[in-house]
Amino acid sequence: MKGELLLLSGVIVLLQVAHSCPDKCHCHTSSDFVDCSQQDLAEIPSDLPPQTRTLHLQDNQIHQLPAFAFRSVPWLMTLNLSNNSLSSLAPQAFDGLQHLQVLNLSQNALPSLESRLFHSLSQLRELDLSSNNISHLPTSLGKPWENLTIFAVQQNQLQQLDGALLESMPRVRLLFLKDNLWKCNCHLRGLKLWLEKFIYKGGITDSVICRSPDTWKGKDLLKIPHELYRPCPPPAPDAGSPHTQQPSSAHGVVPRSPENHSSGGRDPLGCEFKPKPRPANLRHAIGTVIITGVACGVLCLMMLAAAVYGCTYAAITAQCPGRSAARAGEPGKTDRKELCDGSPA
Ligand SMILES: *[C@@H]1O[C@H](CO)[C@@H](O)[C@H](O)[C@H]1NC(C)=O
Ligand SMILES: *[C@@H]1O[C@H](CO)[C@@H](O)[C@H](O)[C@H]1NC(C)=O
Ligand SMILES: *[C@@H]1O[C@H](CO)[C@@H](O)[C@H](O)[C@H]1NC(C)=O
Ligand SMILES: *[C@@H]1O[C@H](CO)[C@@H](O)[C@H](O)[C@H]1NC(C)=O
Ligand SMILES: *[C@@H]1O[C@H](CO)[C@@H](O)[C@H](O)[C@H]1NC(C)=O
Ligand SMILES: *[C@@H]1O[C@H](CO)[C@@H](O)[C@H](O)[C@H]1NC(C)=O
Repeated sequence: MKGELLLLSGVIVLLQVAHSCPDKCHCHTSSDFVDCSQQDLAEIPSDLPPQTRTLHLQDNQIHQLPAFAFRSVPWLMTLNLSNNSLSSLAPQAFDGLQHLQVLNLSQNALPSLESRLFHSLSQLRELDLSSNNISHLPTSLGKPWENLTIFAVQQNQLQQLDGALLESMPRVRLLFLKDNLWKCNCHLRGLKLWLEKFIYKGGITDSVICRSPDTWKGKDLLKIPHELYRPCPPPAPDAGSPHTQQPSSAHGVVPRSPENHSSGGRDPLGCEFKPKPRPANLRHAIGTVIITGVACGVLCLMMLAAAVYGCTYAAITAQCPGRSAARAGEPGKTDRKELCDGSPA
């Protein structure tokens, strides 16, 4: 009796799943498109048609996603969760969505993302994380997103973005980064170098405007001259410090503090981009110029003195042509003196 009842209810549920659409959604069965947008939904509807390929859940009130949230729709290719209230995602929320190509998580309240979250999304082409509250992104994803072409993280709280994360998106063509809290110190150098290469290869991006430090506030990261760069100091071989033990790239998830970076502990200002102090060889150059100037001056004075002396001597000889004769003929020293002393020069 009990078993029969269970079987019956099971059959009814199966029939409903096969033929019905969730209450608040509109199902276009021919195109495998289910539209549940703007329905004040607080969670994912449980009875989605299993063949769904495009699911619109935007403009709802969904706060969190449990593990395997989309288990019932394994063929999903486009998922729109834009403009919900998502503040937490279970690390396995998207597990099983191995065909997902477009994921829109824009306009939510996500504070960070774990690399685990994206492990199963190997087919992803477009990922929109814009207008959230994201302050950390994973350093690496484990394996590359070979097919990702659009990556949007504009309007978040990012201070840093690791070059290694971008390296795992070899085909990305469109990258949106503006309106974050970019901290233009040595840790952002990898991003600058990566972006220069990206743009050179024809990639399209918006601007990375520095929010700190004061030296570069309001400046475009790409327009800061290379000469003013300071690469990060190499990790000190100090075995006592716990900081030096963990190269951050070895970890999948970055719990990197926005205030204190792991390598910045010993030298908090050492890695800021700063105009370099005047180099020692410039000071040498100035010294050389001064010394050369003095030497030249002395030489010139000596030459002038020599010239004046030469002229005077020449003038005297010219004015007193009979000097040697006079000396020989008339022994009158006084006459010669009178004659020559009074002569105009
Ligand atoms: C976000 O969704 C709400 C309904 O939940 C809607 O009233 C609002 O207009 C949407 N905002 C945008 C920018 O689409
Ligand atoms: C997601 O929904 C928004 C509207 O809230 C729309 O503008 C956007 O095009 C949708 N994206 C996708 C990929 O369907
Ligand atoms: C995601 O949705 C927003 C609107 O909420 C839209 O402006 C944006 O273009 C969508 N992103 C993608 C990649 O379709
Ligand atoms: C964003 O995150 C900060 C903490 O990092 C928190 O104080 C703030 O309330 C969050 N804002 C939103 C809109 O969730
Ligand atoms: C990228 O897309 C191609 C073509 O759709 C597909 O064959 C390939 O498996 C995808 N790459 C990954 C890592 O899934
Ligand atoms: C950063 O380090 C300074 C001292 O070096 C400490 O006073 C401050 O609380 C730290 N901030 C964070 C967020 O750890």
